[in-house]
This record gives sequence, structure tokens and C-alpha cells, in this order.
Amino acid sequence: RELEKNRDSYISGQELAEKLNISRTAIWKAINNLKEAGFQIESQTKLGYKLIESDDKLSDEGIRKGLREELKDIDIIVFDEIDSTNTEAKRRLYSSDVSDFTVIVSDMQKGGRGRTGKSFESPKGSGVYFSIILHPKDFFDFSYFDLITVKAAVSVAEGIKEATGKQAEIKWVNDLFMDGKKVCGILSELDADFESRSVKSVIVGIGINVNEPKDDSFKDLKNIAGYIGTDVIRNEILSNILNAFYENNYKKTDEEIIDYYKTHSLVIGKDLTFELNGKKYSAKGYDINEKGNLIVDTGDEKITLSSGEVSIKG
Ligand code: BTN
Repeated sequence: RELEKNRDSYISGQELAEKLNISRTAIWKAINNLKEAGFQIESQTKLGYKLIESDDKLSDEGIRKGLREELKDIDIIVFDEIDSTNTEAKRRLYSSDVSDFTVIVSDMQKGGRGRTGKSFESPKGSGVYFSIILHPKDFFDFSYFDLITVKAAVSVAEGIKEATGKQAEIKWVNDLFMDGKKVCGILSELDADFESRSVKSVIVGIGINVNEPKDDSFKDLKNIAGYIGTDVIRNEILSNILNAFYENNYKKTDEEIIDYYKTHSLVIGKDLTFELNGKKYSAKGYDINEKGNLIVDTGDEKITLSSGEVSIKG
């Protein structure tokens, strides 16, 4: 935390030892442990230690540093690798007390899950894969969460914009695209009681391709997926998205969110194809309604789609 606070300026071993009330040898050992764990720390005799500006290791301290005041005390659990952050979120939900807005993040996923049972490639060191657990104190009806994926998509677009200045576009219902390629997918899951139609917890899982994976085993992904770009610090992107997600959930009106979603929609005005009840359709993206449903115009009729996928022609 001390190194993260002083990122890119030296802090001496002596100063750290005094601050933390431990020996300089203990500091030296701790620094070595951090280096072994993958943090890029520069050591200089007389000057001390510094976390170099471009260090991009995901960490609780690095994420927390950029969080807004209301989120300063949330639980953040960081893994080097895991099967899936959504699956880990579920395990925790059923086995322990989980506080609202807990964030589980991993540097890679061995079994990343996408929508409709697909897998989500999650290579090491190049993306951010995380799940936010919303654990409302009161139970809410399903419909209260209608806009949750819309809010998540808007938050990712805002977070990316804040960190990079680049605007991502939202492909209904919840994929983000940059330069025509997918850079982010979202999988939201509910822990619900069907009889009372009430929701106990929500898991919002977000996977973002930040940099191109170095690993050659992800050749297919390299061809089809987009990347935000190389100068981005993943911790920073993550805290920006969490800040935006808080704002969108607790401060902004649904109208404001839908308005942003529509303005940055990739499908409105585009020629689309989709399947509904086994029938194939071609239609133009027409509008997004207040529930985040997509309205398409076939020429003969307007159809409102509440779930599923659409493809953009060409
Ligand atoms: C999709 O594009 O189909 C949705 C992909 C969602 C991926 C994220 S990565 C973090 C979280 N953990 C998972 O296993 N999936 C979501």
C-alpha cells in the first residue's frame, strides 16, 4: 500500500521500517516477496524502493487507491488464477457472509464462463476478469434488476472512456465493442427465490480484454477479439468501472442510463439479423425502451426483444 501510494517515487527502507514499525531486514524480505509475486519494484541504494509507473499487476491496494469515498471499505479479493470469478462469487455466497459490493477479481480464469453456456477466454496478464456481488439488505422483485446488465455495460464504457479517452460502443444487450471488435462481455447471474420472485443477491461478471495476450495459445482470440490498448493500467480501469457502476446504481436515474446506452448503441439504425421462436428475421435496430429491450423494425412490424442475441449485417 505504501509503494502504491508513492507510485513512481522512491521511499527509503528506513522510512518504511519506521512507518510500519518493523526492521529494515523485514522490509527487504517483504519487497522481495512482492517482486516474486510479480510487482515491478525498482530498488536503488540510498534512494530506496519504488513501484514503477507502468506496473500492471492487479492488487487490492492498486484498485482501492482509485475508488470513490463511498467504496473505500468494500471487500476486494484478488486471485492470480481461478476457474471463474462468477463461480467463486457463488461459492462465497453460499458459504460465508458476503458484504454488499464485494469484488472478486482474477488475473486469469481457467474456466471463464460466457452467456448461453459458452466459455470466455481469459488469458493471463492481459485482461481484467471480475465479479461484483450486490447483496441488497431487502429482497427485491426480479424486475428491480431489469437494468442491471445495462448499468454494467454503461459503467464499463464510462470506465474505459475515463481511463483512455476512447469511447466503446454497446452491442445489445451487453457486449462492448471498439473498432468493430468485442472488448468486453458481461454475464449477470441472480441468486433468487422463485416462489416469492425475490432476488437475494446479484453477481455481475465482467471480462475485459485490455492488452493483446502474449501467450500464443490464444491465437483464435487474437484474431476475433479487440483490445483496449497497451498504455492502460488494469487497476485503474477497474476502479473507474466500479466508481461508475456505483454512480449508475445509486445516483443516476434510469432515464439517464438508457440515454447513454442509446447514444452509444452499436445496433440502433443498423441492419440486423436474429432468430425468434425458431424463425430468422432481418430488421433495422429502431430503439431501446425504458427496460433496456431492443425494438427492431422489420418493415412490416416492430418487434420488442427482451433477451437473446442479434447479429449486425456485414
Ligand atoms: C459473454 O461475453 O458471453 C459474457 C462473458 C462474461 C465473462 C466474465 S469474466 C468475469 C466473470 N467470470 C466469468 O466466468 N464470466 C464473467
